[in-house]
Amino acid sequence: MAQLFPFTDPMASDLSPPKQFVRGEGIRVFDADGKAYIDAVSALWCASLGFAPDRLRQAMDRQMGELAYYHSFMGRTPEITNRLAQRLAQHLPGPLNHVFFGTSGSEAVETAAKFARYYQEARGKPDKRRFIAREGAYHGSGQMSAALTGLTYCHDGFGLPLADVLRTGRPHFLRDADPGETEIAFSKRRARELDALIRQEDACTITAFIGEPAMGAGGVILPPEGYWSEIQEVLARHDILLIADEIICGFGRTGQWFACETYDIAPDMMTMAKQLTAAVFPMSAVAMTDHVRDTMAGLAGQHGTLGHGVTYGGHPVGAAVALECLDIYAEMDLPTHVQTLGDRIGTHLQDLKSLPGVLDVRRDGMLAAVEFDTNGKFGPDLGRRIGEEAERRGVFFRIIGDVLAIAPPYICTPEDIDDIMLVMRDSIGHITGAHHLPAAAT
Ligand SMILES: Cc1ncc(COP(=O)(O)O)c(C=O)c1O
Repeated sequence: MAQLFPFTDPMASDLSPPKQFVRGEGIRVFDADGKAYIDAVSALWCASLGFAPDRLRQAMDRQMGELAYYHSFMGRTPEITNRLAQRLAQHLPGPLNHVFFGTSGSEAVETAAKFARYYQEARGKPDKRRFIAREGAYHGSGQMSAALTGLTYCHDGFGLPLADVLRTGRPHFLRDADPGETEIAFSKRRARELDALIRQEDACTITAFIGEPAMGAGGVILPPEGYWSEIQEVLARHDILLIADEIICGFGRTGQWFACETYDIAPDMMTMAKQLTAAVFPMSAVAMTDHVRDTMAGLAGQHGTLGHGVTYGGHPVGAAVALECLDIYAEMDLPTHVQTLGDRIGTHLQDLKSLPGVLDVRRDGMLAAVEFDTNGKFGPDLGRRIGEEAERRGVFFRIIGDVLAIAPPYICTPEDIDDIMLVMRDSIGHITGAHHLPAAAT
């Protein structure tokens, strides 16, 4: 085997090579034996328009024929990339007004972290260099983005996390609330803990807090009531920037264009990738406010350049794909479309709630999860066993410990949603032995 696979046990893949896929059609991918799978988590929360989107192929093809590559360094840029920046600025929430393009989500987080330091340097506060990130967060696989990540399997063996990263608690009400604590009380406690950490470590050494508005890879953790307003109040009081990592949530996933709108968050910077191009072209972006941009521009002017950028950042073919995605999203009336399909997922989730072994169901828009009780009578690894049963039945969910994540492509029909959720239900029934389940809601 010549390939070393990401987030895969190499010893296990030597014994059992990864399943190979050869074709996509709509929301399905086909393996080398011709077996079809619905990917109910849009692959890596990204393939919002499925696995063979014809309009994106045509957009890519047109752009390849016009200008297949150019960069944005030193006074030049593809016209189409500039057009994308202007179009994005129309969609960005609040005072976010400017974008810097990259190629991957990890790279966008690296860029946002560097920009946060640059901004403080420009304000004459070079000691404000450290970051606060949360337990259970996922921010990527670069040096800093992995350090900001709060999952130990991303650190083990890599000399991570870095000393410049401080850690605070995740907003997981189900798992981390004290007995009898309300959601609001829990949110206030998380804010008090953050405040105490900042006081202990000294706000003059901290540049930014980074958080996913709704956490994805850490187990689809949706913010409890009051969480983001409490956290933002603490950050503002200590003059600490807020970076919203919208790499999963951005472009509709939680039922608004951006999750910052869903949860009333006003970040100083925002990272985007994945659904920006529906994953068919590697592209990411960091958005920032006028204030952050202008402050950075002051320092860059003194240096004669903003000394940061990558060869493929703002790639014209990616820009063409992103513009086509924005057209498609606008035509589907994105927030309404996601809310409607999301409600359908919600109806099924209510139905699953009372099934044996199910501890919790949760959802915002088309981002949802079922959490299983692995300490109960069904034994450990219940989520994994149910996820594997669903895979045998032709549907991929993302298995995250005790959680099965659901984030289907936006091109699902209501009937596709029913099919996906019925496979979830039947798989739960099969593994827990509850074969005679009451009739499902549709
Ligand atoms: C919230 C979040 N940030 C950053 C990343 C990293 O993105 P990429 O895999 O494109 O580097 C991911 C990837 O899943 C993510 O979910």
